Amino acid sequence: MKTLCQDVYEDFERYTSLAGSILREGGTVAFPTETVYGLGANGLDESAVKKIFTAKGRPNDNPLILHISDKKDAERLWTEVPGIAKKLMDAFWPGPLSLIYFRSNIVPDAVTAGLDTVALRMPDNDIALRLISCAGVPIAAPSANASGKPSPTCAIHVMEDMDGRIDMVLDGGACGIGIESTVLSLTGTPAILRPGAVTKEMLLNVLDTVEIAPSALLPLGEGETAASPGMKHRHYAPDAEVFVARGTAPEQSAAIIKKYAELFAAGKKCIIFASEQTKNFYAGKECVTIGSKDNPITLCPELFGSLREYSKNYDVIFLEELGQQGVGLAYDNRILRASGFNIIE
Ligand code: TXA
Ligand code: MG
Repeated sequence: MKTLCQDVYEDFERYTSLAGSILREGGTVAFPTETVYGLGANGLDESAVKKIFTAKGRPNDNPLILHISDKKDAERLWTEVPGIAKKLMDAFWPGPLSLIYFRSNIVPDAVTAGLDTVALRMPDNDIALRLISCAGVPIAAPSANASGKPSPTCAIHVMEDMDGRIDMVLDGGACGIGIESTVLSLTGTPAILRPGAVTKEMLLNVLDTVEIAPSALLPLGEGETAASPGMKHRHYAPDAEVFVARGTAPEQSAAIIKKYAELFAAGKKCIIFASEQTKNFYAGKECVTIGSKDNPITLCPELFGSLREYSKNYDVIFLEELGQQGVGLAYDNRILRASGFNIIE
C-alpha cells in the first residue's frame, strides 16, 4: 500500500485528526517534531509498536521513547514522578529532553525492550502535540529513518526510507533543531545517555550534578553493555564514507581535511562540510558551509539532510569536530557515529 503523505498546513485539524484515528486503530504515522521526524504508533498497544520495528528494520533490543502532550501523563506511565523530574519538565518541556525513569505496568515490553524503565518526552511542535491528543494515547516514536540511516529532518527523507512501509506521513516542513533529543536517565545520579540540544550546562541550572555516559562520545568496547541500548548499534550512517577531523581550532581541522582530500582526490569524489570559520581555508576544493563553529546549534539543522543528499553524488564526506562544550557534545556524538569513529588527525 502507498504511504499517504500530506502537507498538514493545507488543513491542520483534518489531517491531524485523520492521523490520530490511524494511530488509535493500530497504524503507523510519521510526524514532525522540533528535533527530527518520528515514526509513531499507539504506545500502549504491543502489536502496533511491533510495526515500528518491522518498518525500520530496528533491532528489538532498542527501546522507544513515549511522546506525551500533557505532563500529567507521566503519572500513569512511570511508577511515580520524582521531584527532580518535575523540575526538569517545568524547565524544559515541551522541548528536546527525554527523561528515563521506572515504568508502570501499563507500558508494553515492546516499548522498553524488556527494561524496567521508560523514556518520556513532550515535543515542542504543534502538529506533534495535536496528533498525540487526537490519538488519546502516548505515542511510541523512534526517528522515522530506516535503522542505521541518518534521522529524517523533512518529510522527503521519511518517504525515501519508509514509503510503502507505513500508513501516513504528516508533512510539517523542516525540523528546527535537526538532531534528536537529549536522553537523560533519572534512575540514579542523573546521566546523559545521548547528548542533544538541552545541554549539560543547561541541565546544571536545574540539577546539582549530571554525569555523561561514556557512550556519548566513545564507541562501545568489546563485551561492554550500553546504558542506552541504542548507542551500541550503527547510527546515522549515510551511503558515503565519512571522516571526522579531530581538533577544534579552525586552521587545525582545515589542514587535516585538506591533506586527506588531496590524498583521495585521484580516486574518490570528496566533499567537505565546512563552517563559517573554515570555509576560506578550502579554496579550490568542493565544500558546503553548514553553519558556524561559534554557535554549534546552527550546524545541526543541515547535518543529517546534507549527509543524505551529498551521499548520492560523492564517495567521501569530511566533517570537522567541534569540541565538547554546549551543543558541541551532541554534534560531535552524531558525526563520530555517522563516520563509524573514522577519525583523522
Ligand atoms: O528527538 C528524539 O528523541 C526523536 C523524536 C522522534 O522524538 N526520537 C528518537 O528516538 O530519537 P530513537 O528511538 O531514534 O532514539 C531513542 C534513544 C535510543 O538510543 C534508545 O536506546 C534510547 O533513546 N532509549 C529509549 N528508551 C530508553 C530506556 N528506557 N533506557 C535507556 N535508553 C533508552
Ligand atoms: Mg534514531
